[in-house]
Amino acid sequence: MKVTIPQLRELKRDGRPIVMITAYDHPSGRIVDAAGVDLVLVGDSAGNVVLGHGSTVPATMDEMTMLTAAVSRAVKRALVIGDLPFMSYQVSDAEAVANAGRLIKEGGADVVKLEGAGPSLDRVRALVASGIGVMGHIGLTPQTATALGGHKAQGRQAEAAQRLYRDAVALERAGCFALVLEAVPAPVAAAITRRLAIPTIGIGSGPDTDGQVLVLHDMLGIGDEGPHPVFVKRYAEVGRVMADAVAAYAADVRSHGYPATEHTYSIPADELEAFESAIGGGSIDDNTLADW
Ligand code: KIV
Repeated sequence: MKVTIPQLRELKRDGRPIVMITAYDHPSGRIVDAAGVDLVLVGDSAGNVVLGHGSTVPATMDEMTMLTAAVSRAVKRALVIGDLPFMSYQVSDAEAVANAGRLIKEGGADVVKLEGAGPSLDRVRALVASGIGVMGHIGLTPQTATALGGHKAQGRQAEAAQRLYRDAVALERAGCFALVLEAVPAPVAAAITRRLAIPTIGIGSGPDTDGQVLVLHDMLGIGDEGPHPVFVKRYAEVGRVMADAVAAYAADVRSHGYPATEHTYSIPADELEAFESAIGGGSIDDNTLADW
């Protein structure tokens, strides 16, 4: 059974933390779902993490739809969130609805996420009116990080913290079912969380949000060497395991240690003999090839 939006509210009400993580392909979707997470975000962090860009900004609708479809085909229990990339929802309500519709119809996402408040509030209302569940995202919003002065914590002055609070309430009233709070001081995130009926999911926002999200490749130790933000906890060094495995394979090939007999298809001795006698010792002339 799929996780539902009412179940997320129940988790908040019962004080049981919600677990969210990103995934960008079929095998990682399968792994995170089997691990029992509640929410899988096919984030536009794909732009940096798997597509090799310097930011999330270049990620396109086509790319996000393809990645979302790969993850959705694998995830059976968690709610899959398709992330609307930069400029897929900023221009108009109609474009936002059409692009969110693609992530759901073609990408198989259950719901979508977009960044910001202000002009995004109308988009949230339009999406919700079209029957699409929307997760909001405020604090550090990577799509507009340049305008925010870079990738840094948000809401560290009283006025900025108040703005975040107002944005959070406005997004809840616009119809968001949950809200990501990224790089917000822990006490500010805690205060917002207490005042909202919808769950908050924190990333770099302390322990008192209703749930947590991390980028899969960051917590697994795959990808660039950093430096990573302070909130990234590495739970494994999968990148090192992968590099060691590939190096061992390369060494095996070069030393004729791979493939061994057990990795090789056989042919019955009589068939082999017939084959060898058919091809003989000579070369194949053009006339014989034409006969074949
Ligand atoms: O794109 C993403 O991975 C995100 C998370 C960091 C919340 O937006």
